[in-house]
Amino acid sequence: MKRKKKTKKEISRELGLEVGSICGRYFLKLKHLHYGYWTNGLEVDVSNLHLAQDEYVKFIVSHIPDGVKTILDVGCGTGEIAETLLNMGYEVDCVSPCPFLKKQAGQLLGDRTHIFECFYEDMATSNRYDMALFCESFQYIDLEQALSKTDEFLKNGGYLFICDVFGRDIKGKGMMGGGHKLGKFYEHISRFPFRLIENVDITEKTAPSMDLFEDALENVVHPVADLAVRFFKSRYPIATKILKWKYRKKIEKAHKKYLEGGRGGEDFKKYKSYQLFVYKKDAQEQVQPAK
Ligand SMILES: C[S@@+](CC[C@H](N)C(=O)[O-])C[C@H]1O[C@@H](n2cnc3c(N)ncnc32)[C@H](O)[C@@H]1O
Repeated sequence: MKRKKKTKKEISRELGLEVGSICGRYFLKLKHLHYGYWTNGLEVDVSNLHLAQDEYVKFIVSHIPDGVKTILDVGCGTGEIAETLLNMGYEVDCVSPCPFLKKQAGQLLGDRTHIFECFYEDMATSNRYDMALFCESFQYIDLEQALSKTDEFLKNGGYLFICDVFGRDIKGKGMMGGGHKLGKFYEHISRFPFRLIENVDITEKTAPSMDLFEDALENVVHPVADLAVRFFKSRYPIATKILKWKYRKKIEKAHKKYLEGGRGGEDFKKYKSYQLFVYKKDAQEQVQPAK
């Protein structure tokens, strides 16, 4: 079944990732679209974000189970993780629903990979992989579909590898969106033939990026937005007044969401949980999951 139209939410997420990719690459030399992994000793500074991202890739690679040869990189972003994996000798296919990112990944990876340009929920293939990799992409995919498609595309004995943000099962949700609730995830996955073989909580290692993000909102986005409003007000006073009135609810909402704080590392640690989960399809051993 082919999805015909992207929803408004999917379009804005896609635009957000594209803007992130363009600005990150231009201003900070970032190659990836994930938060990064702040190892001990790495100073939390925006100029080190690219190093934290490299550390994240090292962390991912070091947890790939032995025996894996073929990998499906779901939500491959710019294709940089796939590139690392290909250089290490893995066979990698990718999934990318975003034409802009697919083009970037395609330019980087050339004919060393096949990129399925579709939502994972819509993907169809007779290929069967040793591992399905979700690096900060699991949160965007319908939970039930993500698991049933992975069950379909994995060989028996293959691995479901997720490294992503989840929502903690506590009251309130703070200002940050994103991430399936952990309880819901455990409930869904219990209905599939996946057995947990590894679980590492890396919330502490990813949270510092939230402080950098909040800092950028406060010190760059907020003042630039104010300047833009001042500029339009001086040039087009009446039009600015009308637009501000017409879109007052949306402006209020965006202001509350992005410019009133509540998105830093401490909030992240309170409401979110960044987990590495490795599940084996039909495996016997199991470890206890994070609460
Ligand atoms: C935050 S980026 C992470 C990219 C890359 N894995 C990385 O670690 O840099 C999220 C990725 O998920 C992809 N994505 C979003 N919704 C998706 C879906 N329904 N199916 C497959 N990929 C999706 C986006 O296009 C993007 O490539």
